[in-house]
Amino acid sequence: MISRNTAAGVYFVGAGPGDPELLTLKGQRLLQEADVILYADSLVPTGILQFAPPSTLCIPTAALTLEEIIPLMVEAVQAGKKVVRLQSGDPSLYSAIHEQICRLAEAGIAVEVVPGISAYQLAAARLKVELTLPELVQTIILTRASGRTRVPPTEELASLAAHKASLCLYLSANCIQRAQRDLLQHYPPETLVAVGYRLGWPDEQLWLVPLRDIAAFSQQQRLTRTTLYLISPALAVQQQGSDAWRSCLYSPEHHHLFRPH
Ligand SMILES: C[S@@+](CC[C@H](N)C(=O)[O-])C[C@H]1O[C@@H](n2cnc3c(N)ncnc32)[C@H](O)[C@@H]1O
Repeated sequence: MISRNTAAGVYFVGAGPGDPELLTLKGQRLLQEADVILYADSLVPTGILQFAPPSTLCIPTAALTLEEIIPLMVEAVQAGKKVVRLQSGDPSLYSAIHEQICRLAEAGIAVEVVPGISAYQLAAARLKVELTLPELVQTIILTRASGRTRVPPTEELASLAAHKASLCLYLSANCIQRAQRDLLQHYPPETLVAVGYRLGWPDEQLWLVPLRDIAAFSQQQRLTRTTLYLISPALAVQQQGSDAWRSCLYSPEHHHLFRPH
Protein backbone atom coordinates (compact mmCIF):
# COMPACT_ATOMS: atom_id res chain seq x y z
CA MET A 1 0.00 0.00 0.00
CA ILE A 2 1.22 3.49 -0.83
CA SER A 3 1.23 5.40 2.44
CA ARG A 4 -0.13 8.91 2.81
CA ASN A 5 2.44 11.65 2.98
CA THR A 6 4.46 11.96 6.15
CA ALA A 7 7.03 14.64 6.87
CA ALA A 8 8.23 15.53 3.39
CA GLY A 9 11.54 17.29 2.85
CA VAL A 10 10.52 18.85 -0.45
CA TYR A 11 6.99 19.80 -1.51
CA PHE A 12 6.32 19.69 -5.26
CA VAL A 13 3.45 22.12 -5.76
CA GLY A 14 1.40 22.53 -8.94
CA ALA A 15 1.16 26.27 -9.58
CA GLY A 16 -1.64 26.04 -12.14
CA PRO A 17 -1.44 27.61 -15.60
CA GLY A 18 -0.72 31.21 -14.60
CA ASP A 19 -3.45 32.99 -12.63
CA PRO A 20 -2.27 32.94 -8.96
CA GLU A 21 -5.88 32.50 -7.82
CA LEU A 22 -5.90 29.06 -9.44
CA LEU A 23 -3.40 27.76 -6.91
CA THR A 24 -4.86 25.27 -4.41
CA LEU A 25 -5.28 26.33 -0.79
CA LYS A 26 -2.74 23.71 0.19
CA GLY A 27 -0.27 25.09 -2.34
CA GLN A 28 -0.84 28.58 -1.01
CA ARG A 29 -0.25 27.45 2.59
CA LEU A 30 2.97 25.70 1.63
CA LEU A 31 4.22 28.85 -0.12
CA GLN A 32 3.37 30.88 2.99
CA GLU A 33 5.44 28.47 5.10
CA ALA A 34 8.36 28.05 2.69
CA ASP A 35 11.90 29.09 3.51
CA VAL A 36 13.09 28.30 -0.01
CA ILE A 37 11.08 28.15 -3.25
CA LEU A 38 12.56 26.84 -6.47
CA TYR A 39 10.27 27.79 -9.32
CA ALA A 40 10.22 27.05 -13.02
CA ASP A 41 10.28 30.70 -14.13
CA SER A 42 9.73 29.83 -17.80
CA LEU A 43 6.10 28.92 -17.00
CA VAL A 44 5.35 29.97 -13.41
CA PRO A 45 4.48 33.68 -13.08
CA THR A 46 6.31 35.55 -10.34
CA GLY A 47 2.90 36.80 -9.13
CA ILE A 48 2.46 33.42 -7.43
CA LEU A 49 5.47 34.17 -5.23
CA GLN A 50 3.42 36.95 -3.58
CA PHE A 51 2.11 34.29 -1.18
CA ALA A 52 5.60 33.70 0.23
CA PRO A 53 6.92 35.87 3.08
CA PRO A 54 9.56 38.47 2.09
CA SER A 55 12.22 36.40 3.89
CA THR A 56 11.71 33.41 1.57
CA LEU A 57 14.55 32.72 -0.83
CA CYS A 58 13.02 32.35 -4.33
CA ILE A 59 15.25 30.69 -6.91
CA PRO A 60 14.34 30.67 -10.64
CA THR A 61 15.36 27.39 -12.25
CA ALA A 62 14.68 27.73 -15.99
CA ALA A 63 18.37 28.30 -16.69
CA LEU A 64 19.63 25.56 -14.33
CA THR A 65 20.38 21.88 -14.95
CA LEU A 66 19.13 19.02 -12.78
CA GLU A 67 22.69 18.72 -11.43
CA GLU A 68 22.48 22.33 -10.24
CA ILE A 69 18.91 22.19 -8.93
CA ILE A 70 19.19 19.06 -6.76
CA PRO A 71 22.06 20.28 -4.53
CA LEU A 72 20.14 23.51 -3.88
CA MET A 73 17.20 21.47 -2.59
CA VAL A 74 19.33 18.96 -0.68
CA GLU A 75 21.40 21.63 1.06
CA ALA A 76 18.30 23.60 2.05
CA VAL A 77 16.57 20.50 3.47
CA GLN A 78 19.72 19.50 5.34
CA ALA A 79 19.85 23.01 6.83
CA GLY A 80 16.36 22.43 8.21
CA LYS A 81 14.58 24.68 5.71
CA LYS A 82 11.12 24.08 4.32
CA VAL A 83 11.52 23.68 0.56
CA VAL A 84 8.85 24.10 -2.12
CA ARG A 85 9.47 23.14 -5.72
CA LEU A 86 6.90 25.09 -7.72
CA GLN A 87 5.97 23.53 -11.07
CA SER A 88 3.61 24.87 -13.72
CA GLY A 89 0.12 23.44 -14.13
CA ASP A 90 -0.18 19.98 -12.62
CA PRO A 91 3.07 18.24 -11.67
CA SER A 92 1.92 14.93 -13.17
CA LEU A 93 2.17 16.34 -16.70
CA TYR A 94 5.39 17.13 -18.56
CA SER A 95 7.05 18.52 -15.47
CA ALA A 96 10.22 16.41 -15.15
CA ILE A 97 9.42 15.68 -11.50
CA HIS A 98 10.32 11.99 -11.89
CA GLU A 99 14.06 12.63 -12.18
CA GLN A 100 13.97 15.16 -9.34
CA ILE A 101 12.14 12.77 -7.01
CA CYS A 102 14.61 9.96 -7.85
CA ARG A 103 17.63 12.15 -7.07
CA LEU A 104 16.06 13.39 -3.84
CA ALA A 105 15.30 9.81 -2.82
CA GLU A 106 18.97 8.95 -3.40
CA ALA A 107 19.77 11.73 -0.93
CA GLY A 108 17.28 10.25 1.55
CA ILE A 109 14.76 13.08 1.08
CA ALA A 110 11.05 12.30 0.97
CA VAL A 111 8.68 14.42 -1.10
CA GLU A 112 5.03 15.33 -1.18
CA VAL A 113 3.27 16.28 -4.42
CA VAL A 114 0.40 18.77 -4.39
CA PRO A 115 -1.69 18.75 -7.57
CA GLY A 116 -2.41 21.83 -9.64
CA ILE A 117 -4.78 22.88 -12.40
CA SER A 118 -3.43 21.88 -15.77
CA ALA A 119 -3.57 24.12 -18.85
CA TYR A 120 -6.26 21.97 -20.49
CA GLN A 121 -8.56 22.44 -17.51
CA LEU A 122 -8.34 26.21 -17.72
CA ALA A 123 -8.92 26.05 -21.49
CA ALA A 124 -12.09 23.99 -20.94
CA ALA A 125 -13.23 26.38 -18.22
CA ARG A 126 -12.70 29.43 -20.41
CA LEU A 127 -14.67 27.73 -23.19
CA LYS A 128 -17.37 26.66 -20.71
CA VAL A 129 -17.27 23.25 -22.37
CA GLU A 130 -17.75 19.74 -20.99
CA LEU A 131 -15.18 17.55 -22.71
CA THR A 132 -17.10 14.35 -21.94
CA LEU A 133 -20.56 14.69 -23.49
CA PRO A 134 -22.62 11.47 -23.11
CA GLU A 135 -22.76 9.35 -26.29
CA LEU A 136 -20.64 11.90 -28.19
CA VAL A 137 -17.26 11.78 -26.48
CA GLN A 138 -16.32 10.09 -23.20
CA THR A 139 -12.55 10.15 -23.28
CA ILE A 140 -9.92 12.83 -22.86
CA ILE A 141 -6.45 12.25 -24.27
CA LEU A 142 -3.59 14.36 -22.94
CA THR A 143 -0.65 14.12 -25.29
CA ARG A 144 2.00 15.91 -27.32
CA ALA A 145 3.45 15.65 -30.82
CA SER A 146 6.78 13.93 -31.18
CA GLY A 147 9.57 16.47 -31.11
CA ARG A 148 12.99 16.49 -29.49
CA THR A 149 11.35 14.26 -26.88
CA ARG A 150 10.23 11.22 -28.84
CA VAL A 151 6.73 9.91 -28.27
CA PRO A 152 6.59 6.08 -28.10
CA PRO A 153 5.50 4.54 -31.45
CA THR A 154 2.35 3.12 -29.82
CA GLU A 155 1.24 6.68 -29.02
CA GLU A 156 1.69 8.25 -32.45
CA LEU A 157 -0.69 11.19 -32.81
CA ALA A 158 -2.37 9.69 -35.88
CA SER A 159 -3.24 6.54 -33.95
CA LEU A 160 -4.59 8.53 -30.97
CA ALA A 161 -6.63 10.67 -33.38
CA ALA A 162 -8.43 7.53 -34.53
CA HIS A 163 -10.42 7.63 -31.26
CA LYS A 164 -11.83 11.06 -32.15
CA ALA A 165 -11.80 11.80 -28.44
CA SER A 166 -11.31 15.19 -26.79
CA LEU A 167 -7.59 15.54 -27.37
CA CYS A 168 -5.39 18.06 -25.57
CA LEU A 169 -2.12 18.72 -27.33
CA TYR A 170 0.72 20.04 -25.20
CA LEU A 171 4.21 21.14 -26.24
CA SER A 172 3.38 21.02 -29.93
CA ALA A 173 3.32 24.59 -31.30
CA ASN A 174 6.69 24.06 -32.93
CA CYS A 175 5.56 21.06 -34.93
CA ILE A 176 1.91 21.94 -35.44
CA GLN A 177 2.08 21.42 -39.21
CA ARG A 178 2.90 17.74 -38.73
CA ALA A 179 0.40 17.46 -35.89
CA GLN A 180 -2.34 18.95 -38.07
CA ARG A 181 -1.57 16.45 -40.82
CA ASP A 182 -1.72 13.53 -38.34
CA LEU A 183 -4.97 14.72 -36.76
CA LEU A 184 -6.59 15.20 -40.16
CA GLN A 185 -6.21 11.47 -40.79
CA HIS A 186 -9.24 10.99 -38.52
CA TYR A 187 -10.89 14.22 -37.41
CA PRO A 188 -12.90 16.06 -40.10
CA PRO A 189 -11.14 19.22 -41.36
CA GLU A 190 -13.89 21.47 -40.00
CA THR A 191 -13.47 20.11 -36.42
CA LEU A 192 -13.09 23.08 -34.10
CA VAL A 193 -9.82 23.40 -32.26
CA ALA A 194 -9.38 25.72 -29.30
CA VAL A 195 -5.96 27.33 -29.45
CA GLY A 196 -4.96 28.72 -26.06
CA TYR A 197 -1.92 30.93 -25.62
CA ARG A 198 -0.62 31.74 -22.11
CA LEU A 199 -3.94 30.92 -20.51
CA GLY A 200 -4.30 32.56 -17.12
CA TRP A 201 -1.64 35.18 -17.86
CA PRO A 202 -2.51 38.85 -18.45
CA ASP A 203 -1.82 38.47 -22.20
CA GLU A 204 -3.94 35.30 -22.53
CA GLN A 205 -5.43 34.56 -25.96
CA LEU A 206 -7.97 31.90 -26.87
CA TRP A 207 -9.27 31.26 -30.36
CA LEU A 208 -11.50 28.69 -32.08
CA VAL A 209 -10.01 27.60 -35.38
CA PRO A 210 -11.01 24.79 -37.79
CA LEU A 211 -8.51 21.94 -37.69
CA ARG A 212 -7.53 22.41 -41.35
CA ASP A 213 -6.22 25.91 -40.47
CA ILE A 214 -4.41 25.48 -37.14
CA ALA A 215 -0.89 25.30 -38.58
CA ALA A 216 -1.30 28.40 -40.76
CA PHE A 217 -3.05 30.19 -37.90
CA SER A 218 -0.29 29.33 -35.41
CA GLN A 219 2.33 30.58 -37.83
CA GLN A 220 0.39 33.78 -38.47
CA GLN A 221 0.07 34.41 -34.70
CA ARG A 222 3.73 33.42 -34.19
CA LEU A 223 2.80 30.79 -31.60
CA THR A 224 5.94 28.90 -30.67
CA ARG A 225 5.48 28.16 -26.97
CA THR A 226 3.00 28.09 -24.04
CA THR A 227 0.26 27.07 -26.45
CA LEU A 228 -2.33 24.39 -25.89
CA TYR A 229 -4.47 22.88 -28.65
CA LEU A 230 -7.76 21.32 -27.62
CA ILE A 231 -9.52 19.28 -30.30
CA SER A 232 -12.97 18.00 -29.44
CA PRO A 233 -16.31 17.14 -31.04
CA ALA A 234 -17.81 18.77 -27.94
CA LEU A 235 -16.69 22.23 -29.09
CA ALA A 236 -19.10 22.34 -32.04
CA VAL A 237 -21.99 21.18 -29.85
CA GLN A 238 -21.14 23.82 -27.27
CA GLN A 239 -21.09 26.47 -30.02
CA GLN A 240 -24.55 25.37 -31.21
CA GLY A 241 -25.90 25.54 -27.65
CA SER A 242 -27.70 22.22 -28.23
CA ASP A 243 -28.55 20.02 -25.23
CA ALA A 244 -29.05 16.96 -27.46
CA TRP A 245 -26.30 15.18 -25.56
CA ARG A 246 -27.76 15.64 -22.09
CA SER A 247 -26.76 13.04 -19.53
CA CYS A 248 -29.00 10.62 -17.64
CA LEU A 249 -27.92 12.15 -14.37
CA TYR A 250 -30.64 14.80 -14.16
CA SER A 251 -33.17 13.15 -16.49
CA PRO A 252 -36.67 12.67 -14.97
CA GLU A 253 -36.74 9.17 -16.55
CA HIS A 254 -33.54 8.13 -14.88
CA HIS A 255 -33.58 6.94 -11.27
CA HIS A 256 -30.69 6.20 -9.04
CA LEU A 257 -29.61 5.90 -5.43
CA PHE A 258 -30.12 9.59 -4.66
CA ARG A 259 -33.31 9.98 -6.74
CA PRO A 260 -35.26 6.72 -6.39
CA HIS A 261 -38.71 6.17 -7.99
C1 LIG B 1 6.34 21.72 -19.82
S1 LIG B 1 4.62 21.61 -20.19
C2 LIG B 1 3.94 21.82 -18.61
C3 LIG B 1 2.50 21.42 -18.51
C4 LIG B 1 1.93 21.67 -17.12
N1 LIG B 1 2.46 20.73 -16.15
C5 LIG B 1 0.40 21.59 -17.09
O1 LIG B 1 -0.15 20.70 -16.42
O2 LIG B 1 -0.25 22.43 -17.74
C6 LIG B 1 4.36 23.11 -21.00
C7 LIG B 1 3.26 23.05 -22.02
O3 LIG B 1 2.00 23.06 -21.35
C8 LIG B 1 1.10 23.88 -22.02
N2 LIG B 1 0.84 25.04 -21.16
C9 LIG B 1 1.30 25.22 -19.91
N3 LIG B 1 0.83 26.37 -19.39
C10 LIG B 1 0.05 26.92 -20.34
C11 LIG B 1 -0.74 28.10 -20.41
N4 LIG B 1 -0.78 28.94 -19.37
N5 LIG B 1 -1.43 28.36 -21.54
C12 LIG B 1 -1.37 27.50 -22.59
N6 LIG B 1 -0.64 26.37 -22.58
C13 LIG B 1 0.05 26.08 -21.48
C14 LIG B 1 1.74 24.27 -23.34
O4 LIG B 1 1.43 23.28 -24.29
C15 LIG B 1 3.21 24.23 -22.98
O5 LIG B 1 4.00 24.00 -24.13
